[in-house]
Amino acid sequence: MLATTITPLRGPRVVLRAWRKEDLAACAAMNADPEVMRYFPAPLTSAENDIMVQRIIAHFAQHGFGLWVLEIPGVLPFAGFVGLLQVGFNAHFTPAVEVGWRLVRSAWGNGYATEAAQCALQHAFMTLQLKEIVSLTVPANKRSQAVMQRLGMVSRVLDTFEHPRLPHGHPLRVHLLYRLTREDWLAQRYGRASRYVTIRDNT
Ligand SMILES: CC(C)(COP(=O)(O)OP(=O)(O)OC[C@H]1O[C@@H](n2cnc3c(N)ncnc32)[C@H](O)[C@@H]1OP(=O)(O)O)[C@@H](O)C(=O)NCCC(=O)NCCS
Repeated sequence: MLATTITPLRGPRVVLRAWRKEDLAACAAMNADPEVMRYFPAPLTSAENDIMVQRIIAHFAQHGFGLWVLEIPGVLPFAGFVGLLQVGFNAHFTPAVEVGWRLVRSAWGNGYATEAAQCALQHAFMTLQLKEIVSLTVPANKRSQAVMQRLGMVSRVLDTFEHPRLPHGHPLRVHLLYRLTREDWLAQRYGRASRYVTIRDNT
């Protein structure tokens, strides 16, 4: 069942909403697009897509957050998915929550991914009160890194790691890690003074 009680998030042009049955076909088409899947091991079959969506729904049930469907009202009922994911493997930076995105190609180049990710970060830092969010990608995925940088995320050479789910020697195994703390996000959004107010409120 896709029906869930996931709370939607809204930005000026975007809605992050719960999954519906009709999203499955659109998501399958996105996951079968070699350009969208260029920096993943392979495009997904329709069966693999369905399993992925079921995992996303289960993640919401387990953690209360996840990868929302990105809708651009009046433009695209399914523009991809954006949201928050508990990192599912062990690494030097785990446990950690990741912000991630995958958009249909026709939605690229409009700022939608960055706007939607900003909604997810707001949820992570203000509602969930998480202290840090990470994001990971391969060095060649410059578009994804550009989103991370627009969000104010920072990568350090020392955080570069080998993805444990890919075999040694796989061309996508080396990953960059970008990080953003709640303090830095607050300071970027609301000015330096806001972080001290928030920190004091939470102690
Ligand atoms: C990664 C991905 C989400 C980035 O998408 P994107 O469209 O480049 O990113 P944004 O939505 O933030 O859009 C930014 C672009 O929109 C432009 N833009 C146009 N109108 C805009 C507006 N009103 N507001 C903001 N930006 C706007 C920006 O100038 C920027 O253009 P540029 O790429 O020429 O610099 C997308 O390429 C994708 O889904 N890739 C495949 C999946 C993937 O690799 N996921 C990440 C795995 S780690």
